[in-house]
Amino acid sequence: MSLWVFGYGSIIWRPDIPYTAAYRATAANWSRRFWQGSHDHRGTADSPGRVLTLVPIKGERCEGRVFEVPDSAISATLSLLDYREKNGYERQQLCVETVEVGTVEALTYIAPEHNEAWLGDAGSQVIADHIRKSHGPSGSNIDYVLSLHDALLADNIHDAHIAEIAGLLR
Ligand code: SIN
Repeated sequence: MSLWVFGYGSIIWRPDIPYTAAYRATAANWSRRFWQGSHDHRGTADSPGRVLTLVPIKGERCEGRVFEVPDSAISATLSLLDYREKNGYERQQLCVETVEVGTVEALTYIAPEHNEAWLGDAGSQVIADHIRKSHGPSGSNIDYVLSLHDALLADNIHDAHIAEIAGLLR
């Protein structure tokens, strides 16, 4: 038995997990937003960066990528992802759609409202200004945004929120 992992942010362009297959995948009624603070990757506890979480929005779709992790690597992968996504994210199972293998139930990491690093909504300019000045152990917050935007463009995926913030930063 394998494990499916759905990525919508850094997991798309830097999965860093062992996998045997990867497909473009869509999560219906979810949308990604830079509403989560980052104390451990793109900012610090004193000066958090802004990273993505998924928020439930009826009618919207989040286009990401799903990875098939082989049975032999599931336990190590879960430990790795639990550590990587530890700053307010929780494991959640989502049904995502692919062209190649139909609908799969996949594990994803979502930072729910009111977690310890939650920042919430702000205007696009405020979000972009915040990202422009943020840095953390994993690098600059700008790189986090532009790496995702580049990966989405390479896959012909248009995401209005990502495109707007990336446009303000470029
Ligand atoms: C993900 O990529 O699926 C989780 C959010 C992130 O680490 O950017």
